[in-house]
Amino acid sequence: MSGSGNIIKGVILAGGLGSRLMPLTKVTNKHLLPIFQKPMIHYPLECLVKGGVKDVLIVTGGDSAGHFLRLLGSGSDFGARIYYAYQQGEGGIADALRLAEAFIAGDRVAVVLGDNILQRSIKPSVDRFLAQSSGARILLKEVPDPQRFGVAEVKGDEVVGIVEKPKQPKSNLAVTGIYFYDAQVFDIIRTLQPSGRGELEITDVNNAYLAKRQLQWDRVEGWWSDAGTFESLYKASTLVRDGGANLD
Ligand code: G1P
Repeated sequence: MSGSGNIIKGVILAGGLGSRLMPLTKVTNKHLLPIFQKPMIHYPLECLVKGGVKDVLIVTGGDSAGHFLRLLGSGSDFGARIYYAYQQGEGGIADALRLAEAFIAGDRVAVVLGDNILQRSIKPSVDRFLAQSSGARILLKEVPDPQRFGVAEVKGDEVVGIVEKPKQPKSNLAVTGIYFYDAQVFDIIRTLQPSGRGELEITDVNNAYLAKRQLQWDRVEGWWSDAGTFESLYKASTLVRDGGANLD
């Protein structure tokens, strides 16, 4: 079953200190906070399941890790099979993804950051990614405040560069926290050096695929929001309440 290269599994990254949301995150994990009527982690999980990705590894850490098990269990209530991994310390997104290597076992992976909420289905992108012979695919979205994100510079159909949280963004296209990779991603992560903020950056992973000319992209349909700051947490709740996250 594994290692054939056209099976896709999911990973939700739900670790981190949530320091931008203190004191909401003092005694719980950011991804357990509410987005309108559900805990945040429900949204990336439903995003994967509705995108056709049913085997999902949740990577978390800290003191509330056990709460994810209590909340989500085996995943059967969501139509998923859920697995869990524990990230010791704070090494960044790419460091957390490294923990998924044995689970992915040579297959492909759809990674969703646990605080990313989308209105529409990612199924079209999953299908386009599976049609690629190899490489990676990222989802981009125009935003009014690109300096908060990884920012992609696009020429024609091609991404020509990604900069993490640039002071002077070259575009308004944010790199959203939904990424598709082939199994090369784990070799790429092994080559990374910690950034200025002491983390292994997912932007460096994407730029490594770009350097091999193996990075494709799609524009997110419908709205997209992260939820890691007070403003974006509030905005995401409002978007879900007013616009629905039906993922269809
Ligand atoms: C992370 C990534 C960034 C991406 C963002 C999407 O930022 O580093 O490239 O645009 O997620 O939510 P962070 O939320 O860790 O600051």
